[in-house]
Amino acid sequence: MMTTYLSIIRNCKVAQRWSFSHATRCALSPSPSFWNCKRLMVRRLCTDIPTEDRNYYITTPIFYVNAAPHIGHLYSAVTADFLHRYKLLQGFNSRFVTGTDEHGLKIQQAANAAGQDPLSFCTKVSERFKYLFKSCHISYTDYIRTTEERHRCAVEHFWTVLQSKGFIYKGNYEGWYSTQDESFLTPSQVGDAKDSSGKEIKISLESGHKVEWMKEENYMFRLSEFRSRLQEWLEGNPRAVQPERFHRAVLQWLQEDLPDLSVSRQRSRLQWGIPVPGDLDQTIYVWLDALVNYLTVAGYPDSHSQWWRAAHHVVGKDILKFHAIYWPAFLLAADLPLPQTIHVHSHWTVGGKKMSKSLGNVVDPLERSQRFTIDGMRYFLLRQGVPDTDCDYDDDKVVKLLNAELTDSLGGLLNRCTAPSLNPAQVYPHFCSDSFPSQGTVAHKGRAVDEDYHMLDAVRALPAVVEQHYDSVQVYKALEAINRCVRQTNGFVQRHTPWKLVSGDGRDQLWLDTILHVSLECLRMYGTLLQPIVPEIADKLLYRLGVKPVEKSWAALDFLVKYQGKDCPFEGRALGPDTGVLFNRLERPNAEKGKHKKAKKATKVKS
Ligand code: MSP
Repeated sequence: MMTTYLSIIRNCKVAQRWSFSHATRCALSPSPSFWNCKRLMVRRLCTDIPTEDRNYYITTPIFYVNAAPHIGHLYSAVTADFLHRYKLLQGFNSRFVTGTDEHGLKIQQAANAAGQDPLSFCTKVSERFKYLFKSCHISYTDYIRTTEERHRCAVEHFWTVLQSKGFIYKGNYEGWYSTQDESFLTPSQVGDAKDSSGKEIKISLESGHKVEWMKEENYMFRLSEFRSRLQEWLEGNPRAVQPERFHRAVLQWLQEDLPDLSVSRQRSRLQWGIPVPGDLDQTIYVWLDALVNYLTVAGYPDSHSQWWRAAHHVVGKDILKFHAIYWPAFLLAADLPLPQTIHVHSHWTVGGKKMSKSLGNVVDPLERSQRFTIDGMRYFLLRQGVPDTDCDYDDDKVVKLLNAELTDSLGGLLNRCTAPSLNPAQVYPHFCSDSFPSQGTVAHKGRAVDEDYHMLDAVRALPAVVEQHYDSVQVYKALEAINRCVRQTNGFVQRHTPWKLVSGDGRDQLWLDTILHVSLECLRMYGTLLQPIVPEIADKLLYRLGVKPVEKSWAALDFLVKYQGKDCPFEGRALGPDTGVLFNRLERPNAEKGKHKKAKKATKVKS
C-alpha cells in the first residue's frame, strides 16, 4: 500500500486529487480503518513533489493609486497572503507579489485634481498601500510599481512580441469607455442613468460607473481570434477559475460578443503611461500595462518560466474579465503559459451598499486593524468573506465574532487546559491508553465515552478537510470546520470536568492527564492549521504548548500519536511560558454607545 502511495504521490496533480477525494471520504465516514488511511493521507508536502514543481507564485491585483486603501483592498491582500503562508508551511518555494497600478487616465486625472505631478502623487499613495500591508503582516516577497523601469522594459518587450506576431494592428476605435474602470464596453454593457444633478448619463451596467463615447485611431489587439482557444482552456481546466460560478460566467461571456480590443490611447489624451514602442503618439492601454506586472516580477523578459509556470492569481470579481479573458488571450498571443489558477473573490459592502466616498461608508483597514488587532481583522475577513457572494462589513459583527471564536472558544480552551491549577508541573501531560483505549481494541473499559471518540475522529480528519478548503481558497469553510472541532474539544473538557479530578486518586490523575493531553493535542492541531490566517495568535498558542519552530509545519499535523501506540515527542516536555490571554475581549461598539447613552440619561435625571 505504502509503495503504491509513494508512486502515486510522485505526480503532484494526481496526489492532489487523491488526497482530496480520499481524505474527504475518510473524513465523512470514519471507520475502524480510518486511522490507518488517515496515516497515509499525509498532507501534500513538497518533499514528495519534484523540485521543479515546488515553486508557487501568488499574486494580488495591483492596486490603483487614485484613492486610499479600503477594507476590500486589504481583503484581496489577506487572501493572497494566506495562500502564500499556507504554501510555505507545506514546504513550497512560494513567492508572493503585490504592488500598485499607477498609469492611466484615472490616475492622471486624480493627480491633476490633487495639483501634484503624477509620479509624486503615485509614490505617496503607493507608500500608503505598502504601509498598510506591512502593518497587516502581508508577507509579500516583491512589491511592484508599474512606474518602475523593470516594468517598462517588460511591457515594451511584451508589446513588441505581440506586434511581431501580427496580433496588434492600427485601427479606429469607436465606442464606450469607462475611465473609472479603465474599460471599453460594448453597447449591450451600457445603460441609462442620471447623475447627482439629474443629468441623463450612460453608465456601465456592471460597475455603475459613468461611460463616455470615444472615437480615436489607436492600436487594436486581435482578441476575437482567441475565443475558441480560451474556451478550450477553460473546458479542459475546470479549476482554472474558482469558485465554479465564476468559471461558468467566463464561459458565458465567451459566447457573447468578443470584439477586438483597443490597446492604446492617443498620447494627446493620455500622457501618463508607457509609450507604444516606435509610436510616440500612442500610450499603451493601462490594463495591458498592468497585467504584465505579473510577468515583470517573474523576471520577464529574462529568465521567468520557473515562476511564471506556477502562477496563481487572486482577484476580485470586478476584474475577472481582464484576468480570465484579456490576460490569457495576451499570453496565448505571446506563446506563454496560462496561469494555473485564478482565485476570484466577491466584494465587501457596508450597510448593504458599495463603499464610496460620497456615501461616507468607506472602511479604513488600518484604523480597524488597530482597533480590532491585525490578526482580529485578518480572521474576520477570512472567516466572514465568502468568495461566491458579497458580504456586508459591520463593526459589531467583528466584535461578536472575535469574542465568540477567538476569546471564548479558542482562548478559553487554551486557558483551561494550561491552567496551573490543573497542571501545576506545567508540562505536556502523559496520555494513558487505559483511560482512553483505542476503539475496537478495548480489553477493559476506559473512561472515554462515545462522544469523545467522535471528537477524536473529527480532529483527526480536520487537516484533510482544512487542506481541501484552503486549496480551493474557501477559507471560511475551513474556519467553520476548525471552530466545530474547537467546540467539540471544549465539550470534551466540560463533560469530564477535569477540575474535579485534581485531588483524586492515582487513576483520576492518569485520566486528568489524559484529558489534558488530548486537549493540548487538539489545540496543537488548531494552532498549526491557523498559522496562515492568524500568524501571531497561532504562534502564541503553539509557543504556550512548547511547540518548537521546526514542529509547526504541515508535516507536524500528526494528531495524538499516543493513541496509535507511538511515542509522542511532546509528552513530558515543559510548556512554554504564559504570555497572557490568547485574544483580549473586545468592547462592542453598540455596547459602548449604549453605555454612553445611559450615562447621559443619568446625568439628565440628576440635573
Ligand atoms: N488596478 C486594477 C487591478 C490590476 S491587476 C493587473 C484594480 N485595482 S483596484 O484597486 O481597483 O482593485 C484592487 C483589488 O481590490 C481588486 O481585486 C478588487 O476586486 C478589490 N476590491 C476593490 N473593492 C473591493 C471591495 N469592496 N471588496 C472586496 N474587494 C474589492 O482593479
